[in-house]
Amino acid sequence: MKVLVIGGTGNISRGIVAALQARNHEVVLFNRGQHVDVPPEDMRVIYGDRRQRVHFEAKVGAEEWDAVIDMISFNAEDTASAIRAFQGRVGHFVHCSTVMTYGPPFDGINLPETAPLNGTSDYALGKIAADNLLLEAHARDGFPVTIFKPSYTHGPGIPLHRQLGCGGVWIDRLRKAKPIISVGDGTNYFQFLASRDAGVAFAAVLGKSECFGEIYNLVHPQPRTWDEWQEVAAAVLGVSAEFVHVAQDTLIGIDTQRYIHLLDNFGHTQIYSGAKLAAVLPEFDPQTPVTESVAENIAWMDKHNRVPNSDEDDGEDRIIESIQSLPLATNLWRAFGER
Ligand SMILES: NC(=O)c1ccc[n+]([C@@H]2O[C@H](COP(=O)([O-])OP(=O)(O)OC[C@H]3O[C@@H](n4cnc5c(N)ncnc54)[C@H](OP(=O)(O)O)[C@@H]3O)[C@@H](O)[C@H]2O)c1
Repeated sequence: MKVLVIGGTGNISRGIVAALQARNHEVVLFNRGQHVDVPPEDMRVIYGDRRQRVHFEAKVGAEEWDAVIDMISFNAEDTASAIRAFQGRVGHFVHCSTVMTYGPPFDGINLPETAPLNGTSDYALGKIAADNLLLEAHARDGFPVTIFKPSYTHGPGIPLHRQLGCGGVWIDRLRKAKPIISVGDGTNYFQFLASRDAGVAFAAVLGKSECFGEIYNLVHPQPRTWDEWQEVAAAVLGVSAEFVHVAQDTLIGIDTQRYIHLLDNFGHTQIYSGAKLAAVLPEFDPQTPVTESVAENIAWMDKHNRVPNSDEDDGEDRIIESIQSLPLATNLWRAFGER
């Protein structure tokens, strides 16, 4: 197949490109050429900014594509432009949305694709608008779209997230044997998918006409808690992790700006059902050992200097110090018991 990937050098998209190449597809990328990682040498790249609508539509609309994978549509305008460019010229169009469209609140576990769309952030609202436009185009004109909704997907291309945020400073803290903050009691569950496993799903779905007009959650089938996740990173680094658990409300009270994202994403248990995708795509069977994908992610961060020096920001240390100066709940209980 001749497959165009819009994006292609990013976190999930590099997993997609690898999976497409493994299937011997002819892969073409469309990107600006600004990413720190460059495409494989022998790969054809059409350079441009997808938001320069006229240039983008003229360039990609000048060819026929067996499939197009759109990794960087964030709103109705991006997607309207893609529909104009590809209508009648594409065999299968795969659009990358997100599970963030479902909440907050994220009230339920194993949420299926039929769950109500409650997303409130600009990111979620933009994705919902883009998804709707594509489903309308499918219903109206038979636009051959499939929508994937990944949950958190890690790997080279972006720093390794923790519940507290998306920056990589916690890796430096772990390396320097500093304690790290864990939100609440650390038992919120999430799904952590390796980008190379995600890539397999994008590649394997191509050409499956039964998936046209359908939405699929793209998630790791085995959720784990954030503390387990942070333990994996510590194990990969060969250190032992010390967690200081701090209530979410306390964190937001201390620094609203810094921790507000907890409310609309990482502060909740989020478990989505992957059953619908598993039924049509047995090829998607995430097997990458988590220690391997996390090691790969950290290696990428080191290579690109994306592990900030924790000595340069004492915010986390100050919160930890204040929490540790409070009387321990166990001491309080002992005091009550002794009365
Ligand atoms: N990672 C997650 O946890 C997660 C979860 C759910 C959904 N998603 C979705 O996954 C998608 C991100 O894919 P990714 O991880 O591969 O992306 P990424 O790591 O953010 O990389 C972005 C890619 O797109 C290219 N690009 C960015 N802006 C562009 C523009 N205006 N025109 C042309 N090319 C552009 C970049 O190359 P240049 O800079 O060279 O242009 C790069 O190849 C998004 O749609 C996001 O909503 C991610």
